[in-house]
Amino acid sequence: MKSSAIAHSNIALIKYWGRSRDHDPNLNIPSNDSISMTKLGLSDDIHLQTRTTIDFSDIYEEDTAILEGEVLTERRLERILRVVNPLRKIANIGYKFKMMSENDFPTQAGLASSASGFAALAIAAADALGIDFSKEEISTIARLGSGSAARSIHGGFVYWNKGNSHETSFARQICGSDEFDMSVVIAIIHEGKKDVTSDVGHESAYTSPFDRVRISKSQEQAKDIEKAILDDDFSEVGKISEENCKYMHAVMMTSNPPLFYWHPNTLKLIKSIQRIRKESLECYFTIDAGPNVHCLCRHKDIYELEKKLEEMECVDKTIIARPADDSYVTREHLF
Ligand code: PMV
Repeated sequence: MKSSAIAHSNIALIKYWGRSRDHDPNLNIPSNDSISMTKLGLSDDIHLQTRTTIDFSDIYEEDTAILEGEVLTERRLERILRVVNPLRKIANIGYKFKMMSENDFPTQAGLASSASGFAALAIAAADALGIDFSKEEISTIARLGSGSAARSIHGGFVYWNKGNSHETSFARQICGSDEFDMSVVIAIIHEGKKDVTSDVGHESAYTSPFDRVRISKSQEQAKDIEKAILDDDFSEVGKISEENCKYMHAVMMTSNPPLFYWHPNTLKLIKSIQRIRKESLECYFTIDAGPNVHCLCRHKDIYELEKKLEEMECVDKTIIARPADDSYVTREHLF
């Protein structure tokens, strides 16, 4: 009972930050709707994807999960089990598993490796166990590992409806990868692992006095940006994305304990992106739970923008990406 899947990471345009306090925190039901673009890296070696293979068999005496060659223990293994156990229960199969997973991009650098990772795991595990789930149902299972993984099941532009139960909190596609022209240059200024993972950061969002405002604003912005995507209005999408990103970082910085994901060079990049927008080409920033900056643009501008950002001394490297297609099952196994 072996299967493999490939899923891509995503960048949130409307951010998920903080779990709903009305539900079991382990369900990862968010306090607001969110929207993202699933990313396909355009260089030869970085497609911004995770490949995961899982095998269920009576030859295994215990559940083993290996990420990038490292055997996972404690909380990290527990998160894998949160995805696999409900599927084992549905399939009524008690076998232990061996899982291996590899990313073709830096893990935990704010590039959403957990999104692609748990999306690939949910798809591979359901397929290996012979469960015939819709994409929406798979999305609910991926969400149990990491909220943003709910969105990486789909390609293109994706809307995660916060819902009010496990069954109703899933992502759906707004439009496919070719239906809205937007690409992204990711400016990497720091590749190290972050001090506080988003999984932990979500727990303190509610302590910020700005949390309520961010939640209600995000609900409005999610509706507005969905419309702008469908209307092919890049300026509006960019403008709302920047605003929503600032709201999230304001909440992070004013939570207890406070979370400062930005580095000094993050602000430098924000200023540069504003300058580039004024002087030459239309682009907008957004930043997840890390110091690196995603710069949104129309596809025709991507190489010029990449060059401008690469020229900045504080930028270690750039990754360019366009919307990816849906995640999928593959027969190319890791073991
Ligand atoms: O899915 P998590 O628990 O890694 O949370 C993702 C949080 C952000 O990346 C900051 C925002 C988002 O919506 O992806």
